[in-house]
Amino acid sequence: MHKKIIITIDGWSSCGKSTLAKQLAKELNYVYIDSGAMYRAITLYFLRNHVDWTKHKAVDEALKEITLDFRYNEHSKQSEMYLNDENVEYVIRDLVVAEKVSEVAAVKEVRQFAVKQQQQMGEKKGIVMDGRDIGTVVFPKAALKIFMTADNAIRVERRFKELFEKNPNVTIEEVKNNLEMRDYIDSHREVSPLRQAEDAIVLDNTNLTMKQQLEIALRWAKEKIG
Ligand code: DC
Repeated sequence: MHKKIIITIDGWSSCGKSTLAKQLAKELNYVYIDSGAMYRAITLYFLRNHVDWTKHKAVDEALKEITLDFRYNEHSKQSEMYLNDENVEYVIRDLVVAEKVSEVAAVKEVRQFAVKQQQQMGEKKGIVMDGRDIGTVVFPKAALKIFMTADNAIRVERRFKELFEKNPNVTIEEVKNNLEMRDYIDSHREVSPLRQAEDAIVLDNTNLTMKQQLEIALRWAKEKIG
């Protein structure tokens, strides 16, 4: 029986973290956890309920009303995000949520709320979690930390293709502006900004196929798992 470890994947928006994390989890028979989905679901709740996230009291009150959990879907063969028992896996990917999520994710109380739950999910190990602060704050002792990056133009193109399939009205400028804005806010916020952990290994996938990046990550994982 191999030992189970925690694998963290952090990095810039839309550089393929979740694709790699999902594939890696599948290969290793680990659980994949999309921490960004939690921030997106909280943002969706705040938008729907007109919660002013600049006010501490309003945020505290709202967080008491939020239950988040991931449930496995047999059809899509992936775990999906539930907000108060509602499947929000698809609506949280809308640009409306993407436009506000970095602001909401910068709120201290929101981060405490999410990080606590993320740490509980990792208690049994055997997980791959992707996000922005997973290797630095959520699991600083994780056995394998990957920091992903890719050229900006490639990231915009990939994200545009993904969103265009769902909404043909979306423009490349909108996508580019949203990515730049999120990267800026995510890396400049006061509480746990996006940064590379000192012991993280960089994976630049600008010129890699999905298969190649998976092979590299799997090799790193197997070295740690033994
Ligand atoms: O990975 P994603 O694009 O779905 O993440 C959505 C937003 O949530 C992103 O702009 C930054 C924030 N986020 C974060 O602050 N910390 C995390 N661990 C994951 C996401």
